[in-house]
Amino acid sequence: MRIFRFESIDSTNDYLKNKKDIQEFDLVIAEIQTKGRGRRGNNWFSNKGMALFSFSLKVDKDISAEEYFKLPLVIGISVLRGIKRIEELDLKFKWTNDVYLDDKKLSGILVEKIDNFFIIGIGINVNNKEMGIVNEVAISLKNKTGRNYIVDDIIFAVIDEFKKYYKKFCDGEWKYILDEINNKNYLKNKIVNIARTNEIVTGKVNEIAQDGRLEVEISGEKRFFDIGEVHIKRVKNEID
Ligand code: BTN
Repeated sequence: MRIFRFESIDSTNDYLKNKKDIQEFDLVIAEIQTKGRGRRGNNWFSNKGMALFSFSLKVDKDISAEEYFKLPLVIGISVLRGIKRIEELDLKFKWTNDVYLDDKKLSGILVEKIDNFFIIGIGINVNNKEMGIVNEVAISLKNKTGRNYIVDDIIFAVIDEFKKYYKKFCDGEWKYILDEINNKNYLKNKIVNIARTNEIVTGKVNEIAQDGRLEVEISGEKRFFDIGEVHIKRVKNEID
């Protein structure tokens, strides 16, 4: 595993995306990002004290594109487990791949694909007090516990967990991974608005299904939503 460290960089994901001699599990760690990117074209406010890193994963030709739709979920549970190794907190997994603590976002993940590699970018609020997120409520580990953490310990615990979970995933153990994810399912039983290109629907979330889609009950009918297809917003003041 090669490690590339930067005090400041535009985006750790972009660094790997532009790297000509990219190898599997190249890891990029930055203290600050000047153009940190989030999902759906959002900016990712990137301050000192956060864990800001990306690594590369080679696309395995034996794994179908359909199977790879589950990759964000595998990464999400690995981030949750990695953080838990450092601090035992009641962390939740928010489909498709965020980690939540006390109803607030602790970590975000951006998965991109370039040629034969996935670029997996992870941001975790660790020692930072400022999150700078305008439209999402966020929390850092320090906000919660008042402690300071060694950011590298968290990064390497997450990568170690990812390697374990990814091996299980490749070995056909998805069912067990999914059970674990569903045990931590933040959205379960919550009322959410689901926005798609041509509709906004409101429903109650059930489990995450075998194929990684989210099962939502809408007007008494079960519907399934694809990863990446929807934008989910929890309806405030509804049942937990
Ligand atoms: C999201 O929740 O919208 C995803 C946020 C992903 C942020 C990380 S920080 C490290 C890596 N580099 C980036 O530019 N983005 C990801």
